[in-house]
Amino acid sequence: MKDFIIMGCVIDSLSPQKLRSVEKGCIVVSQGLCRGVFREIPSGFEALPVTDFGEKLIIPGMCDLHLHAPQFALRGLGMDMELLDWLNTYIFPEEAKLQDPDYAKRSYGGFAEALRRSPTTRALVFATIHPQATTLLMELLEATGLICFVGKVNMDRNCPEYLREQSPEASLRATEQWLLETRERFSRTKPILTPRFIPSCSDALLQGLGELQRKYHVPVQSHLSENYGEIAWVRELSPAAAFYADAYDRFGLLGGDYNCVMAHCVHSGEEELERLRQRGVYIAHSPESNMNLASGVAPVSRYLDLGLRVGLATDVAAGSHLSMLRAISHAIQVSKLRWRLLDPSVPPLSFPQAFWLATLGSGSFFGRVGAFREGWEFDALVLDDSNLFHPQPLDPLSRLERAVYLGDDGNIVAKYVNAERLF
Ligand code: GUN
Ligand code: FE
Repeated sequence: MKDFIIMGCVIDSLSPQKLRSVEKGCIVVSQGLCRGVFREIPSGFEALPVTDFGEKLIIPGMCDLHLHAPQFALRGLGMDMELLDWLNTYIFPEEAKLQDPDYAKRSYGGFAEALRRSPTTRALVFATIHPQATTLLMELLEATGLICFVGKVNMDRNCPEYLREQSPEASLRATEQWLLETRERFSRTKPILTPRFIPSCSDALLQGLGELQRKYHVPVQSHLSENYGEIAWVRELSPAAAFYADAYDRFGLLGGDYNCVMAHCVHSGEEELERLRQRGVYIAHSPESNMNLASGVAPVSRYLDLGLRVGLATDVAAGSHLSMLRAISHAIQVSKLRWRLLDPSVPPLSFPQAFWLATLGSGSFFGRVGAFREGWEFDALVLDDSNLFHPQPLDPLSRLERAVYLGDDGNIVAKYVNAERLF
């Protein structure tokens, strides 16, 4: 059913600085698109079916710009390590298991169900190097009703033999075949090119992936400037690149005329930031991951001031939690530590800014997504915050802030993606 009205305490972003709330508000959805938020049912729409959620909060769905499906099973492990040791000790052995179809079914089945129940309505997902398991993940995600881009990962060097594609040609052949099989097969799930990061991709592989991007017009996702050890390694591996992002850009893998997401950008210098701005690259800010792996803290409010595109991400399993509501509170918390301990010139994120990052900031990757505006796509969460004790009534924005900081998946009583109710 794509024509309906839902009622409740509606909150969304007007801008990164400003939230709006409409108590007893009506959101009209017709022909699958949002028609706006009203104080009463507007004329012409009286005949539409109404679901009244009463006092409950209705907010836009959360868009997770970066996470790793095969790592879901490993959340909370190895969080006393930094990136490269954590990858070698925990992540690569786990990702290798996805080659086994039975294991893939169990691991990805658990992930897809958890993502369906989570606050996330849309996501950009890394899989592994295995095409068969990646296609299975796409089937499982398609069945959830969520909207996802999924990437078969490319890696042909500097990784264990058991998780390495045998040559650039073999990696490219497998990737092209997987693209052809999946790019038109699903309505909600699409492929995205996914070189893991520069250390695990040879120049020949990156060159071929750039060619595949131009041939099939697919988006690209990867990692950038996350960790000091990684950045030093990239400098050795790509001496011709002016800076880390240039090592992608040389092969046409840094956006420009197509959508590109780079996770982290914690330590990007001025030249790199300027290139990201020119290319319109989305920065996937992953605050819990950056804490867990001691990577550092990106100066996000500065990135917003510079006009960079920034969204929010969980980066499961370097981020231990799948919940984008938690990612909002983590983003604020790490920005305050950064401001106090490292750099008083970059102000911490406000609650409206962090909420905007999770909804509109990330949502714009998917089109007109992330707020209840006329003509935009309709994704929503309905939150029941009645278990969050308070001795007197609170205003809607205070209720939202508490639901984000204190709530969990149990507070989500309904979820809509592209005008369809998932539960
Ligand atoms: N860089 C390369 N691979 C990974 C990964 O799996 N997680 C994170 N956080 N960074 C990476
Ligand atoms: Fe990641």
